Amino acid sequence: MPVDATTAYLPLLRRIHWATAVLFIAAMLIGLYCGLQPPGTSPRRELLEVHKSLGMTLLFLSVLRLMVRLATKAPPEPSSFGFLVLLAARLNHVALYAILFAMPLTGYAFSSAGGYSLKYFWIFSWPRLVADNPVIAHAGEVSHDMLAWFVYAAVALHIAATLWHAVVMRDGTLARMWPRSGNLSSQTTDRVQRPERFT
Ligand code: HEM
Ligand code: HEM
Repeated sequence: MPVDATTAYLPLLRRIHWATAVLFIAAMLIGLYCGLQPPGTSPRRELLEVHKSLGMTLLFLSVLRLMVRLATKAPPEPSSFGFLVLLAARLNHVALYAILFAMPLTGYAFSSAGGYSLKYFWIFSWPRLVADNPVIAHAGEVSHDMLAWFVYAAVALHIAATLWHAVVMRDGTLARMWPRSGNLSSQTTDRVQRPERFT
C-alpha cells in the first residue's frame, strides 16, 4: 500500500535515513574511540580503516539522499509546532545535512593530503584527489576534530528532540520517518487533529 506523502517521508528517504543513522552513529563512536587511542596502536589502526570506509559510504549515501530530497516534497510539519520548534527543527536538519558532507570531506582531505591509508574495507583504495600537502592535511585534521564536537551536539539534540516528540508530545513526528510500508494516511502527524478517543 502506498504511503501518504502528506504524513510521511518517501519510503526511499526513510530507508536512507535509518541506514544513515546506523552507519553514522557507528562511524561517530568508532571515531571517538580512535581519537582517544595513541596513534599507530592496535586496534586504532584497524578501526580507523572501518571508520573511513563507513564515512565514505555515508558520503555517497548522502549525495543520493540529497538528490532525492531536493527532487521530492517533504510532508508538512504538524501544525502543533510553534515558530521556535519549527525553526529549531529546520536548523537541526540543515546542520545534520551539512555534517553528512563536511565530516567525510574533511576526513578525506586529511587522510589524502596527509598520505594516510584510504582503503575501502580492505577491498580497494580511494584515489588521492588531494595530493600530499601538510597545510591541507593539517586544516582537514583540525576541522574534522573540531566539527566532531558539533556532531555530538547536533546528533544528541536530534535524538533527544525525537524522544521528546515521541514520548511526551506524542504528536506523530517519529511516524513521519518510521520505516514501514503500510499506508499512514489513517494516522495523523498532528495531535490537534486527532479524534477525541485517541487523545
Ligand atoms: C560521516 C562521516 C564521519 C564522521 C561522523 C566522523 C567522525 C569522527 C569523529 C567523531 C572522530 C573523533 C575526533 C576526535 O576525537 O578527535 C573522528 C576521527 C577521525 N576521522 Fe572521522 N568521521 C567521518 C568520516 C571520516 C572519513 C571519510 C575519514 C577519512 C577518509 C575520517 C578520518 C578520521 C581520522 C583519521 C580520525 C582520527 C583523528 C585523530 O585521531 O586525530 N573520518 N571522526
Ligand atoms: C536514533 C537516531 C535517530 C532518530 C530516532 C531519528 C529520528 C528522526 C525523525 C523522527 C525525523 C523526522 C523529523 C521531522 O519530520 O520533523 C528525522 C529527520 C532527519 N534526520 Fe534523523 N534520527 C536519528 C538519527 C539521525 C542521524 C544520525 C542523522 C544524520 C547525521 C539524521 C539526520 C536527519 C535529517 C537530515 C532529517 C531531516 C530529514 C529531511 O527533512 O530530509 N538522523 N530523524
